[in-house]
Amino acid sequence: MRIVSGIQPTGQIHLGNYLGAIKQWIDLQNENECVFFIADLHALTTPYETKLLQKSITEKVIAYLAAGLNPDKAIIFKQSDVKEHTELAWLLNTICPIGELERMTQYKDKSKKYKDNINAGLLTYPVLMSADIMLYKAMAVPTGKDQEQHVELTRTIARKFNQRFGETFPEPKSMMPEYGAKLMSLTDPKKKMSKSDEPKSCIFLFDEPEVITKKIMSAETDSGKDVLYNITKKPGISNLLVIYSLLTKKSIKEIEIEFKDKGYGEFKKSLANVVVNYLEPFRIKKKEFETRDSYVKEILEKGQARARVIAEATMKEVREKMGII
Ligand code: TYM
Repeated sequence: MRIVSGIQPTGQIHLGNYLGAIKQWIDLQNENECVFFIADLHALTTPYETKLLQKSITEKVIAYLAAGLNPDKAIIFKQSDVKEHTELAWLLNTICPIGELERMTQYKDKSKKYKDNINAGLLTYPVLMSADIMLYKAMAVPTGKDQEQHVELTRTIARKFNQRFGETFPEPKSMMPEYGAKLMSLTDPKKKMSKSDEPKSCIFLFDEPEVITKKIMSAETDSGKDVLYNITKKPGISNLLVIYSLLTKKSIKEIEIEFKDKGYGEFKKSLANVVVNYLEPFRIKKKEFETRDSYVKEILEKGQARARVIAEATMKEVREKMGII
């Protein structure tokens, strides 16, 4: 099965990105044809530093590799290296109803957050994302919960295209983990963990052990002292339980029993240990990859070449069907 997903390069990768998306990718890469890219064109819709963009792209490739993506299996590349993404996005813009874009939650949130920069790209962002997926005729898109609405829109656009120009695109399905599809902020567990919020609300993949411990120990918890999963009454502890469970493969029930009568402090201390140990090999691999400058470049070049073969074939077909030759 062909699978597509991506991450924006700006900001650091956090545990939410990992548990919601990247961890699924690692599991999928062996049995599927995977296309994973750095969505640099999407990142231009919100304020960013031009001078830092390439550096953050390199950092994300290193994060992919450190987390366990295998460039000999998955196609790993930079979105802007394959021009067909923007070409297809324009064509899809002509069939996507504007009302669909105006109702997107992410558009509404971002237009509130970036009041001084509500650019057209912020609105048409999901069309570019649909192009990213449809260009490779992907069947499935592994992401966190916040991207589900965009994948649903991709199905709508694919259906409209097929009806108007003939059967061309599959309608891709969302793939989300049962737990961890929406990891919450450590400082405000009613909000999702987000790289654009304050650093102490996120655990970043490459945080040093002391930093991880400090963030977890000061994470917002709920009144009471029992370590129990209850999303409405105990959103803070529930979020930490999800992290504990996903990183140890223990069920939430097992963890609740383990920490019965032990209180939040002991649970948090143990969680800090779990996270520090889980991320240790990531930190080590990152340092290794950072010394191999040309390796990232090679991966992106190879990935670009592999992606282009598929992208060019799709665009040839799309152009013919839309009568643009
Ligand atoms: P981005 O860069 O915001 O996030 C990357 C991935 O991480 C997931 N994620 C989370 N999962 C669980 N809990 C959280 N708190 C959390 N925060 C983020 C996201 O759901 C995502 O899977 N538009 C996309 C990038 C993109 C894309 C695509 C994805 C561009 N084109 C095509 C799939 C297919 C984005 O901004 O993700």
